[in-house]
Amino acid sequence: MIPFNKPYSTGKETKYIEDAVARGKISGNGYYTQLCQSFLEKKYGFNKCLLTTSCTDALEMAAILINVKEGDEIIMPSYTFVSTANAFVLRGAKIIFADSRSDHPGIDEDKLEALITTKTKAIIPVHYAGVACNMDKIMSLAKDYNLFVIEDAAQAIDSFYTGKDGIERALGSIGHLAAFSFHETKNIISGEGGMLVINDEKFADRAEIIWEKGTNRSAFFRGEVDKYGWVDIGSSFLPSEIMAAFLWAQLENIEDIQKVRKTIWNQYYEQLIVWASNNNIQIPFIPDYATNNGHMFYVICESLEQRQVLINKLKKDSVHAVFHYISLHKSPFFKAKYIGSILKNTDIFSDCLLRLPMFYELDTKNVIKTILNHD
Ligand SMILES: Cc1ncc(COP(=O)(O)O)c(C=O)c1O
Repeated sequence: MIPFNKPYSTGKETKYIEDAVARGKISGNGYYTQLCQSFLEKKYGFNKCLLTTSCTDALEMAAILINVKEGDEIIMPSYTFVSTANAFVLRGAKIIFADSRSDHPGIDEDKLEALITTKTKAIIPVHYAGVACNMDKIMSLAKDYNLFVIEDAAQAIDSFYTGKDGIERALGSIGHLAAFSFHETKNIISGEGGMLVINDEKFADRAEIIWEKGTNRSAFFRGEVDKYGWVDIGSSFLPSEIMAAFLWAQLENIEDIQKVRKTIWNQYYEQLIVWASNNNIQIPFIPDYATNNGHMFYVICESLEQRQVLINKLKKDSVHAVFHYISLHKSPFFKAKYIGSILKNTDIFSDCLLRLPMFYELDTKNVIKTILNHD
C-alpha cells in the first residue's frame, strides 16, 4: 500500500534526543527549544516564536492573548480543522463562518467585510495547503475595523506572500499572531508539535507567561525577577526538550525537505494537468502573490460520486488517497447552531477535494500511473 503520509526522519533525531537527555534537562524551554525558536525567528523574520505541543495549543494561546470573551465574534473559514474554531469556542466566542474562494479552499477575502459587526474581534485566515490568503485585503480590513488577525499557518511552514508593496514575507509573519503545526503529517515534524508566532510585540511578555502555566518563570530564568509565581491565567503549552530535539533535526534539513516535497508536487502537477482537464477535474491554483511549499497535492473532482470512484480505483491499486475537512458549519457539533447562509464553495471542497499521497520518500510513478489509467 502506498500510504497517504509517511513521517520522514532525517537520521539525526534520536542523536539529538540522546544529547538532550545527556544535557540533564528534558523538560521545556531548554537548549533545543531555544535553538529551534531562534532559527525560525531569524529564517522567517518572525518577531518571537514559542514552541508549543501542537498548533491547537498555539491557537488556544492566541485566543487567551487577545482576551476573547463570551459573545465575541471570530471570523474564519468553515473549510478548516476543528482546532481553528475550538480554540475560540473554549473561551465563549461565537464563530462566524465565511465561505471559501471559488478557485481555492482559502477564505474568500471579498466576503469578509459583510460579516463584520461591532462584536467582531478577530479574523483567522487559514493558509490552506500552505498557499497564502490575500493578506493585504485581510490586514487592511483588520486595520479599518480594529480587529486582530491570527494566521492559522498549520500547513504553511516555508511559504510566502508577496504584498502590493512587492515585498515577499513568510506566512506567519504578517498577522498579529500565527500558529504552526509540526504534527507528523506536516512538512517539518516532531510527532505532535506546534509553534506560536508573536509578531505584535505588545503580546510578547504575556505570551511567555501563558506558555509557562501563568507564571513568570521565563523571566526568572533570565534573571529579570528574583522569584517567580502565579501572575496570570495560563497552561502547560510548552513541549519537552525531547520534542524540540527531534524538531531541530528536521529544521537543520529544512532546505532539503522542502526541495524534495516541491519536486514531488511539481511531478504531480505536470503529469496530471492534461488528465485533469480531460476529466473536468481541477488541480491546485496558486495565486500570483503566493508560493507553494509542497505541503499537499489535491485534485477537485466534478462531484462526490466522481471522487468516490477515484478513491476506490486508487485503493484497488494500493494507493491511499484521502478527502479532507467536513465543513465545520455542517459538523455534528455546530450544525444546529449555524444560522449563516449557504457556503457554496465550502460545500464543493468538502464533497469533491481529494488529497494524493505526499511525503518525502514517495515515488509518484505508481500513483500517477494508476490515476492516468482512470477513466
Ligand atoms: C488548518 C489547521 N489548523 C490547525 C490544525 C491543528 O494542528 P495540530 O494537530 O498541530 O494541533 C490543523 C491540523 O492538521 C490544521 O490543518
